[in-house]
Amino acid sequence: MTDFTVLRTAEQVGKLVVKWRKAGMRIGFVPTMGALHKGHLSLVSLALGETDRVIVSIFVNPAQFDRGDDLESYPGTCDEDLMKLDDAGAHCVFLPSADEIYPEGFSTSVHVSGLTDTLCGKYRPGHFDGVATVCAVLFDIVRPDIAVFGRKDAQQLAVVRRMVDDLRLGVEVLVGEIVREPDGLAMSSRNSNLNPEERVQSAVIHGGLSKASELVAEGVRDADRICDAVREFIGMAPLASIQYLGLVDPETMMHVEKLNAPGLLAVAVYFGNTRLIDNVILKPDRS
Ligand code: PAF
Repeated sequence: MTDFTVLRTAEQVGKLVVKWRKAGMRIGFVPTMGALHKGHLSLVSLALGETDRVIVSIFVNPAQFDRGDDLESYPGTCDEDLMKLDDAGAHCVFLPSADEIYPEGFSTSVHVSGLTDTLCGKYRPGHFDGVATVCAVLFDIVRPDIAVFGRKDAQQLAVVRRMVDDLRLGVEVLVGEIVREPDGLAMSSRNSNLNPEERVQSAVIHGGLSKASELVAEGVRDADRICDAVREFIGMAPLASIQYLGLVDPETMMHVEKLNAPGLLAVAVYFGNTRLIDNVILKPDRS
């Protein structure tokens, strides 16, 4: 186990970071909203492999929830999270209050245009403004060399990368691969909200995405044909309700009709009130 500190204010984090920097250390950062699972811990391990000190933030960011009930039902498991992060070798957990991140009078919002118009952005108004704003604030507090984000939130990853480039924030954004349950369901904090029947049926999401990869391997390039097959597969689960399914360019998030270059097939599916997202990169070359 490493030295492990839990800090609650930006000032405390700033002082620690200055001390580490003076000692010539590189700093990695993993922003989270808690309810940690193996997917998050894989991001911590990626950051540990690249840097000398790793800070993880746990902040359930109200600005990125478009539905109040979603915010209320978001799982909170702080004590377990701290134990997991200690075991995983993180050096510091930043656990701010809402006032610490958004002090009275806070009036700024970061909007990344274009690539937030499709997929989740279309159905969750303001969500990516909330994500971009909190990430900008957290990057300013932590001043990391690298920040690690998971590929499961592929549109979030693209938004953060665009913001970092556009605002020249000087943070290298690294991506951690999707970690899955044995039946293929992508790990997510929201999985714990599924009832047993929903949980069993939720495996169709990965099944549908795998079907798409198979079709592409067989030479299918037409987005509609691929999406129809995935819809049919997911439709086999009576409790599944697809919110969106789209094949897009992985950087711009613009829809593509033909797969002439690697494309991101992204899906959001409701099981009851629980909304799950997942994706796969489809590669048209057969090598
Ligand atoms: O992916 C998440 O958990 C959140 O969107 C993030 C990046 C921590 C911002 O609140």
